[in-house]
Amino acid sequence: MPSDTLQLLLGWAVAELRKIDIESPQLDARLLLQHATGLSREDLIIDPDRGISPAAAASFRAMVARRLAFEPVSRILGEREFYGRAFKVTPDVLDPRPDTETIIDLALPLMNASSRILDLGTGSGIIAITLLAETPEATGVAVDLSPAALVVARSNAVRLGVASRLTCVAGNWFEPVDGRFDLILSNPPYIPSADIAGLEPDVRNYDPHLALAGGRDGLGPYRTIAAGAAAHLAPSGHVLVEQGAGQADAVAAIFTAAGFKVAGTGVDLGGHLRCLIFSR
Ligand SMILES: C[S@@+](CC[C@H](N)C(=O)[O-])C[C@H]1O[C@@H](n2cnc3c(N)ncnc32)[C@H](O)[C@@H]1O
Repeated sequence: MPSDTLQLLLGWAVAELRKIDIESPQLDARLLLQHATGLSREDLIIDPDRGISPAAAASFRAMVARRLAFEPVSRILGEREFYGRAFKVTPDVLDPRPDTETIIDLALPLMNASSRILDLGTGSGIIAITLLAETPEATGVAVDLSPAALVVARSNAVRLGVASRLTCVAGNWFEPVDGRFDLILSNPPYIPSADIAGLEPDVRNYDPHLALAGGRDGLGPYRTIAAGAAAHLAPSGHVLVEQGAGQADAVAAIFTAAGFKVAGTGVDLGGHLRCLIFSR
């Protein structure tokens, strides 16, 4: 057990996390130590021999133990940064992924002050809330089948100042939705259900099953969204979806068969074709 200085605690945690091949042991240990101590990254660099209170050290060790059980850092901290904003994350929502920023980059140029957006499968609310926060007079509706996820989305909408422009409704895709929208967006569950057991433990043990499972071939939600989109899209509106690596052709075929054409594409940080834009 190390003595409780910043440097020794950090070194101990990094060594422990390396033993189980955590991808970014330095970063994870640093974020947890900052959270436990309330210190900044600069504090950790400038004063590595600083002593830590027993309470902060105990809290840090407890957090490292959770990470050693493969719990993602964002879940331990209860917060995840997305498009420059901090979103609350709980066990009821998908841990937002950086790749989902691709759909934001594609959507923003399509929006104007009066845009009305629909976010299907909103989870923590990252897509709808980010778009409304970036477009100060736009309004939107966010849908999720999970009422518990909607509690998180609502709380993020309040925290990020868009609650008066976002309606959160529980239900199955389009079922609770009336009217037409300029943008319909979704990052639906897209993992073939049989593949979930083989995912990394930080995903399969911590992301809600409902947020991952896309049915037999992972494409079920796209079929439902493509079938319902025309009835809810404004005449010159667009549908934007995120899909898994390697699914773009299949998703494009589903929307093409439903009368849409591909109007744009977006590539994620890993070079995968991550998002598609459709128009009529
Ligand atoms: C992959 S997660 C995406 C969450 C969030 N939009 C994001 O990008 O982080 C998919 C979301 O779809 C929701 N969902 C699953 N089935 C649904 C359905 N039939 N109707 C509405 N939402 C559904 C899940 O609860 C989950 O929040």
